[in-house]
Amino acid sequence: MSLLVAMTVWHVEDWRARFKALLPEMPVVVLGEPFDRRSVHYVASWKHPAGSLSGLPNLAAIFSLGAGVDHLFADDRLPEVPIARVVDPDLTTRMSEYVVLHCLTHLRQQRRYDSQQRDRIWDDDRHQPAARSVRVGVMGLGELGLDAARKLQLIGFDVAGWSRSPKSVEGLSTFAGGEGMAAFLARTDILVVLLPLTPETTGVIDATLLAGLAQDGRLGGPVVINAGRGGLQVEADILAALEAGTLKAATLDVFETEPLPPDSALWNHPAVTVTPHNAAMSEPEAVAGLIAAQIRRLEAGQPLEHVVDPARGY
Ligand code: NDP
Ligand code: OXD
Repeated sequence: MSLLVAMTVWHVEDWRARFKALLPEMPVVVLGEPFDRRSVHYVASWKHPAGSLSGLPNLAAIFSLGAGVDHLFADDRLPEVPIARVVDPDLTTRMSEYVVLHCLTHLRQQRRYDSQQRDRIWDDDRHQPAARSVRVGVMGLGELGLDAARKLQLIGFDVAGWSRSPKSVEGLSTFAGGEGMAAFLARTDILVVLLPLTPETTGVIDATLLAGLAQDGRLGGPVVINAGRGGLQVEADILAALEAGTLKAATLDVFETEPLPPDSALWNHPAVTVTPHNAAMSEPEAVAGLIAAQIRRLEAGQPLEHVVDPARGY
């Protein structure tokens, strides 16, 4: 019985070493080297090549090495076995750090002062709204969105959240589904997007959504922060809204095409902050341990945790 680590983009040997240390009794094989396909009971995947998981007759479960699973469903030959994803307090904490950092950066106009410093300009600005007068809307109230929302509330932001199903969260204004969208956007100065990429959410950050954001807020225009997935956003619509002045700024960790192509207009736009899809990386130290624990649960006849619903796509 073996574990297949199937990935592109990340360094497979780092993961193989961690899994070997954690599961000494289990051979750990990787794509591109010969292995007995019948021996593979488990797969740990991050953006595996499409089709590379077919022909594994004894496969019992697939583990996504990240919180998102859109990379798995992108494979139209994905075996029909249970899929579990990462829910990791370390990853959640780092995502909240990212969200808090960038909400505060917009609140405190830090990019403006960075630029002034480069030009040796001393230009004070009396317009410094308090966090309590800035409305943050978090799209996606799952593991990541809820934690970020709570931490933003601690700082004092006026936070609301939007999810697929209605939620009741103490101290948080909540909105749900298509019917809750307009009211949610209309009270949002900083939109934080932490949605999964599914057929329903693809392209959700488009001209219509951007036009619905509050124009009467204390920041002088709405701001978008997307750390969910690039496929959620229509980059041409974001650029057009920035040009039209209906969007003040965007902080993007994820892009329609990754790495962001060198000729993308987002790179040099003065109102856009680009980070290289690392808001919350999966750490082999933490994540391999969680997957090893899941494998031990299965081997002991216990159910998998954090199982994904293929019908919902997350
Ligand atoms: P969860 O599955 O825990 O939460 C997803 C949330 O999105 C839920 O609240 C869900 O609603 C909501 N949602 C899903 N579909 C819709 C819809 N159609 N309309 C409205 N709301 C919807 O995911 P996580 O919080 O763990 O992660 C979110 C995403 O963050 C990941 O899928 C991944 O893409 C991204 N990510 C990015 C990283 C980075 O480094 N940039 C790192 C890690 C994750 P409901 O509660 O009703 O089910
Ligand atoms: C994830 C990611 O989904 O890193 O975990 O994007």
